[in-house]
Amino acid sequence: MSKRLQDKVAIVTGAGSGIGQAAALRFAEEGAAVAVLDLSPEAAATTAMLIDKEDGQALALAADVRKADELDEAIDAAVAEFGGLHVLYNNAGVDSRGSVADTSEEDWERCFAVNVTGTFLCSRSALRHMGRGSAIVNQGSVAGLVGVPNFAAYCAAKGAVVSLTRSMALDLAPRGIRVNVICPGTVFTPLMEPMLAARGDGDLQLGLERTLVKYPIGRLGQVEDIANVALFLASDEAAFMTGSVVTPDGGMTAQ
Ligand SMILES: NC(=O)c1ccc[n+]([C@@H]2O[C@H](COP(=O)([O-])OP(=O)(O)OC[C@H]3O[C@@H](n4cnc5c(N)ncnc54)[C@H](O)[C@@H]3O)[C@@H](O)[C@H]2O)c1
Repeated sequence: MSKRLQDKVAIVTGAGSGIGQAAALRFAEEGAAVAVLDLSPEAAATTAMLIDKEDGQALALAADVRKADELDEAIDAAVAEFGGLHVLYNNAGVDSRGSVADTSEEDWERCFAVNVTGTFLCSRSALRHMGRGSAIVNQGSVAGLVGVPNFAAYCAAKGAVVSLTRSMALDLAPRGIRVNVICPGTVFTPLMEPMLAARGDGDLQLGLERTLVKYPIGRLGQVEDIANVALFLASDEAAFMTGSVVTPDGGMTAQ
């Protein structure tokens, strides 16, 4: 049986850690050549090395998703190395804690720059190389669908990613390119640790317990839960899906 991303070239942004790293490994396992893009060159190199160790194909790329020139250069390098581009997973993201009353302009702008502008710039750069049958997977969050206290900029930014996805899906459907967005519930990664500790008034364990009550399925997400959804949306198995908002969230938004 052929692998699910056989002969495909994928770029995963923010692939040096957490969900992005798990997705890069999963894509490679399913036959994709993976360009591992991250702000941190060391983190990108580590993920690429993990893929190499499993006899997969990987290229580490250091770039900031806020910078168009860096992205064009990195994405061109991936295409030169692997001979094409079929999948873009716009996963890189940062959080921002605070209500509107106590969020600084700098924090607001940083959150939008990485999560929203980053998704726009990576997509624009990748689209120079993507043709019919390609897929873009954007990373939203349950915070883009429901309100989360003290997460104002993050909720607004992820809501923008959901809207952008729908708009991109319509614009790109005539070109045969699908665009979907994943809105995960809480997954325990370096990004979420400070948020969980804050929710427990500084006590991480208490923060985890307070978060868990929102999850009918009785646990938080694991990076593999989200990587598997990304894999499906990236693959031809999702050929009739575009503009979809997919919620691996343990039932959190079903309530
Ligand atoms: N962890 C969760 O609970 C959760 C839930 C919903 C959505 N998400 C989203 O999933 C994505 C990944 O989150 P994670 O929890 O794996 O985070 P993480 O912090 O573990 O990994 C994020 C990676 O993105 C990279 N990155 C940050 N800014 C960048 C930039 N400007 N350019 C390039 N790379 C950059 C970081 O270096 C890091 O390697 C984010 O978009 C996040 O908002 C996470």
